Amino acid sequence: MSLLVLGGTGTLGRQIVRRALDEGFQVKCLVRNFRKAVFLKEWGAELIYGDLKLPETIPMTLLGITALIDASTARPSDLYNANQIDLYGKYVLIEAAKKAKIKRYVFFSVLNAHKYPEIPLMLLKLKIEQSLSNSGLDYTIFPLVGFFQGLVTQYALPILEKQPVWITADTTSIAYIDTQDVAKFAIKSLSIPSTRKQVLPLLGNYPWNSLEIIELCEKLSGQRSNVSKVPIYLLRLVRQLTKVFQWTWNISERLAFTEVTARGDNFDTSMEKIYDLFQINRNEVMLLEVYLQEYFTKIMKKLKELNYVNNQDIEKIDF
Ligand SMILES: NC(=O)c1ccc[n+]([C@@H]2O[C@H](COP(=O)([O-])OP(=O)(O)OC[C@H]3O[C@@H](n4cnc5c(N)ncnc54)[C@H](OP(=O)(O)O)[C@@H]3O)[C@@H](O)[C@H]2O)c1
Repeated sequence: MSLLVLGGTGTLGRQIVRRALDEGFQVKCLVRNFRKAVFLKEWGAELIYGDLKLPETIPMTLLGITALIDASTARPSDLYNANQIDLYGKYVLIEAAKKAKIKRYVFFSVLNAHKYPEIPLMLLKLKIEQSLSNSGLDYTIFPLVGFFQGLVTQYALPILEKQPVWITADTTSIAYIDTQDVAKFAIKSLSIPSTRKQVLPLLGNYPWNSLEIIELCEKLSGQRSNVSKVPIYLLRLVRQLTKVFQWTWNISERLAFTEVTARGDNFDTSMEKIYDLFQINRNEVMLLEVYLQEYFTKIMKKLKELNYVNNQDIEKIDF
């Protein structure tokens, strides 16, 4: 099967490419910057130029493709408005997939998006879900919450570097998941006919709140944290200010998203049916405790090897 992956340089996309190559797929990656994507080529993927902001570049990337996994999304640093990438770019991609008679189309949405249509990023995801369900394509949509990998920059690194850990509230619980597990489900879905035209949420085994994660990081790293709380009103104020300038729209949209995760909702749902459908045992899914334990063990070992004394530049260490 010839597979096209979008977002292969991203946090989730790279795990999808890795998994697909390991399982013997012929993998093409739509990338907008070849230099940044060189590691994907070294792994064995073929790189093909495409940019969701440039609709004319999309159709050619689908030539000879059987299935497509879209793990792309606008970077907060991108100067363009997320609409151009996460809405219009994706509309073009869906139309091109129809014309190219793509047999399977995998898309990642956000869990509970229907509850927050007033949040721009959620609305974009809902519109693409709608477009896929009307497209006639054999799609699979995986709504997600957050990734373990994001918790490293949000909590683990600041704690190691003795920097403040910014949290918005301690009541929201999120069942974070490892991107390697998401990749496992996404690739497996391609060979399970009953995942066609389905929306299948993917979550980790336990919903964690901020204070529990901080406590876990403190225990595993042996360091005390320095927690700073951001009041919701301040988050809203910054969001309103960043909305004023076109070049900060992306930041404003991300802040709106952060605000949702600070409202005290529960981002969790039962995965039992999904484990059954994929014939995956819940014990096979990575636990946050184990993931962070491995992370801290690796980083502490590396720091020892480097005879690390200043507790600085941890971010620059390459794993
Ligand atoms: N991260 C989360 O916690 C989370 C939660 C829920 C859902 N999701 C969804 O999961 C998926 C993967 O998220 P992620 O966090 O792994 O994303 P990410 O790390 O931010 O990566 C985004 C990817 O999209 C690519 N991209 C951006 N603009 C593009 C354009 N104009 N044309 C082509 N490619 C472009 C980027 O390429 P460059 O390297 O060239 O920038 C990168 O490969 C997304 O659909 C996201 O909405 C993520």
